[in-house]
Amino acid sequence: MVSIGAKTKAQSTLPVYLNESASIEQRIEDALSRMTLEEKVAMCHAQSKFSSAGVPRLGIPENWMTDGPHGIRAEVFWDKWDQAGWTNDSCIAFPALTCLAASWNTDLSSLYGKVIGEEARYRNKNVLLGPGVNIYRTPLNGRNFEYMGEDPLLSSRMVVPYIQGVQSNGVAACVKHYALNNQEIDRHTVNVDVDDRALYEIYLPAFKAAVQEGKAWAIMGAYNKYKGQWAGQNQYLLNDILRGEWKFDGVVVSDWGGINDTKQAIYHGLDMEFGSWTNGLTMGASNAYDNYYLADPFLKLLKSGEVKEEEVDKKVRNILRLVFRTNMNTKRPWGSFATEEHALAGRKIAQEGIVLLKNNNNTLPINLAKTKKIVVVGENAVKLMTVGGGSSSLKAKYEVSPLDGIKKRIGTQAEVVYARGYIGEQPKAQDGLSTGDSITDNRSADQLMKEALTLAKGADFVIYVGGLNKNDKQDSEGNDRASLGLPYNQDKLITELAKVNKNLAVVMISGNAVAMPWVNDVPSIVQGWYLGTEAGNALAAILVGDVNPSGKLPFTFPAKLADNGAHKLGVYPGKGEEKYNESIFVGYRWIDKEKIKPLFSFGHGLSYTTFEYGKVTADKKQMTADGKMTFSVSVKNTGKREGQEIVQLYINDVKSSLPRPIKELKAFNKISLKAGETKRVTFTIDKTALSFFDPKKHDWVAESGDFNALVGASSTDIRSTIAFKLK
Ligand code: BGC
Repeated sequence: MVSIGAKTKAQSTLPVYLNESASIEQRIEDALSRMTLEEKVAMCHAQSKFSSAGVPRLGIPENWMTDGPHGIRAEVFWDKWDQAGWTNDSCIAFPALTCLAASWNTDLSSLYGKVIGEEARYRNKNVLLGPGVNIYRTPLNGRNFEYMGEDPLLSSRMVVPYIQGVQSNGVAACVKHYALNNQEIDRHTVNVDVDDRALYEIYLPAFKAAVQEGKAWAIMGAYNKYKGQWAGQNQYLLNDILRGEWKFDGVVVSDWGGINDTKQAIYHGLDMEFGSWTNGLTMGASNAYDNYYLADPFLKLLKSGEVKEEEVDKKVRNILRLVFRTNMNTKRPWGSFATEEHALAGRKIAQEGIVLLKNNNNTLPINLAKTKKIVVVGENAVKLMTVGGGSSSLKAKYEVSPLDGIKKRIGTQAEVVYARGYIGEQPKAQDGLSTGDSITDNRSADQLMKEALTLAKGADFVIYVGGLNKNDKQDSEGNDRASLGLPYNQDKLITELAKVNKNLAVVMISGNAVAMPWVNDVPSIVQGWYLGTEAGNALAAILVGDVNPSGKLPFTFPAKLADNGAHKLGVYPGKGEEKYNESIFVGYRWIDKEKIKPLFSFGHGLSYTTFEYGKVTADKKQMTADGKMTFSVSVKNTGKREGQEIVQLYINDVKSSLPRPIKELKAFNKISLKAGETKRVTFTIDKTALSFFDPKKHDWVAESGDFNALVGASSTDIRSTIAFKLK
């Protein structure tokens, strides 16, 4: 009795902000009321490369951010990008987000979020700088590999579970880069000129879903400008849309060095400024961070009364909300780091994201019973891909290269021989971290090709592993690719390999579409992405058929650059001004409109089994504006082994007052079928699936009239269509 009484008394003297039974909003107001102006301002900007101040006097902890989005970045020095040399910060590298998107499996997205969140939590980070959901507008964008493809519906459905998974650890997901950061060239200066329809229909939906469905606790303003204001200090994007229309109650974080003006940073919805100057104590003040736009200049304006205290309070409320949701939530789990469980989760995601693009005559899986000698060709078979590419670069606990994965899986079942085949690039170190793989070769390009061809000729099977890498002007932040073509004369090598051996699998490691002038010469092609720690094991499992491929492309592979709207219309990369003239016709929407045959379509991916689709049916002929409609289709596995199929529902609006894409993805379902098994897949839609954004009304509209529902295995492989009406 006595001890209970004592406890009650202690609880009643606990300040409200520390009392977990009080509501977060009450705790915020209480904490705010105890803070000085200086303490408030200190929370609004960085104090180091990746952290911002707490309120030590009140026991309110600091905020610690980490990249994101494929693993937890190595610890860096307080003021420098260089890694600090810790020996306990080697993480699990998860597959790049393009690979996750290619799995079209929302459960895997949830798993991804959960495990990366556990890693962040263990490392005491309360904000994960990811996921990224900028739309794939051009295949040249150096950061496409960090995003979830070209389609707003697919990226929306995939981003929500990722966020929920991360945040179940008491770690905030910081969705980036809001918004319109669709190219790396001129990213700090380019002003994006996009019409409202494209903004709302293409570029914003994934962010909106992240905020409203995923309930993301943080969002990062992009580097570029929109309507002449930098995205991180942007009235339209932050105040009007994010907070006004979507009611976002989380924290807006700037991109590192993305802030350029104190007044806009104060009034346009930003909460925390990072990365403006991070070169230590050399800025002339006692502390460089005091010079931040939201540091001393902000404090001065507040003290003089030119800016009302309410402005800093708004920001601090959001920041405190973040702290209560994360660091001060005593019930959040502890996390775990670099575990086998996490590595296996990454492997599972990798295996489901790999896409079998082409497979003539069942070239794959490799028939080991008939294969005595396998020749692996290509630099990417040995090149580590978790290092490089910009801020998503990782210090991985380990990374299984494709060659090692193949060798391990094949064991003594066949001889595996390697030939590099071409001279690529010596991998660069990033943040003081090198890949450790030395791939210098003093032989000439001719000698390397000759060696590969001679070996390939005498092999039972040839696996080519090439593509792009994480070096500058490839799949890497800060720059775009120079062309759609493969670097290092790979086209020639692949063409020659196809001539000497018909048992050839071409594995492309990249986060982007590449041109394939040899597409008709090679029997099989695998899109292998960047797969992280377990890369080689995942790839080998697909190549030998332990795992049946089930990924599908989250973006179009155009045959040439001019088959992409942004390029055809000649606007990319703009000259300081990037006008999105193709408007809503991005990716397959452009391909459909222009009747172009893509190299590989959005939604395309093969399996080692085959699927037969029945006829799509609907539960009614007509839908009312407030009603729903259900479509269903039976899908049968007509092959000899179990497999997964991603069934896609597209909607076509027959007649509309504004131009619309021929069709748009509105639902999908990934199902698993045993050999011979049939399942019925159902999709229920409401009028949101029929709506477009009307810029005049500034609202979504579904016009009554005729529609078609198209069910298919890809955006160009529609198996069945049914007409219906909206009343
Ligand atoms: C990138 C962000 C990243 C940040 C911190 C910036 O250059 O654009 O995506 O989170 O750096 O590393």
